[in-house]
Amino acid sequence: MNAFETVLYDKLPSIALVTLNRPRALNAINIRMRDELWQVIGAVRDDPDVQVVIFRGAGDRAFSAGADITEFGTAPSPVIARQVRWQRDLWGTLASFSKPLIAAIQGYALGAGLELAMCCDIRIASDDSRLGLPETTLGMIPAAGGTQTMPRLIPPAMAAQLCITGEMVAARDALGIGLLNRVVPRDELFPTARKIAEKIIANDQRAVRTAKEAVRRGLDLPLVEGLELERRLRSRLGK
Ligand code: COA
Repeated sequence: MNAFETVLYDKLPSIALVTLNRPRALNAINIRMRDELWQVIGAVRDDPDVQVVIFRGAGDRAFSAGADITEFGTAPSPVIARQVRWQRDLWGTLASFSKPLIAAIQGYALGAGLELAMCCDIRIASDDSRLGLPETTLGMIPAAGGTQTMPRLIPPAMAAQLCITGEMVAARDALGIGLLNRVVPRDELFPTARKIAEKIIANDQRAVRTAKEAVRRGLDLPLVEGLELERRLRSRLGK
């Protein structure tokens, strides 16, 4: 599994640890990384030993500074087509992933980096992190799901502000608006993420995945239909 150039994949007991690994480019997500993340995610989905996935960034400066801007506007059209395909499949797959996903963020989480983290169920960040969606400052919009996932996570007015201004927020402010679950000193980041993963692993995994599905799918439904979904999922669980 570690034959990848841009992603490190490690297995801890019941945990898949996925490290974005281009530290010299602040772990910017290039086409190759999307390609490799797609392969890793497929393997993690099919591996019965993996109950929880933790994403993190290599080096000490960034989780990820977003899409690789050096690839913007330079790729020939077949490459762009592949880029679009990977982008859609990866973010769609992550957003509907059945196993719990945790993002352990240190430093910058920008653009597609933050969007990847927003596909996760839980975001823990070091207290020196900075988060943002700078796409509009580059004449684009967030297109790895960010315009849709962000207003489902934080108050819509704050989501609009972050999407439209492209400004970054510090970890404490991101915690205040609900974009992060927890902020910890840098040296506690990974141990905290792991502790949370272990708490999840100690639970019944069918119940965990069913609860995740209820929360995720319910966000797109009116309350009455969400309650109906909850009833159906509960009976599917047989309890
Ligand atoms: N794509 C490709 N390379 C990137 C990158 C990205 N998104 N973000 C950073 N890098 C590279 C830089 O080009 C630089 O490479 P170099 O050392 O070969 O010159 C290296 O990472 C370090 O970045 P640098 O800009 O020197 O660090 P900084 O501390 O001055 O600034 C940021 C940090 C995050 C503010 C700045 O790198 C930045 O704004 N990056 C782009 C963020 C962005 O717009 N992402 C979304 C794209 S939609």
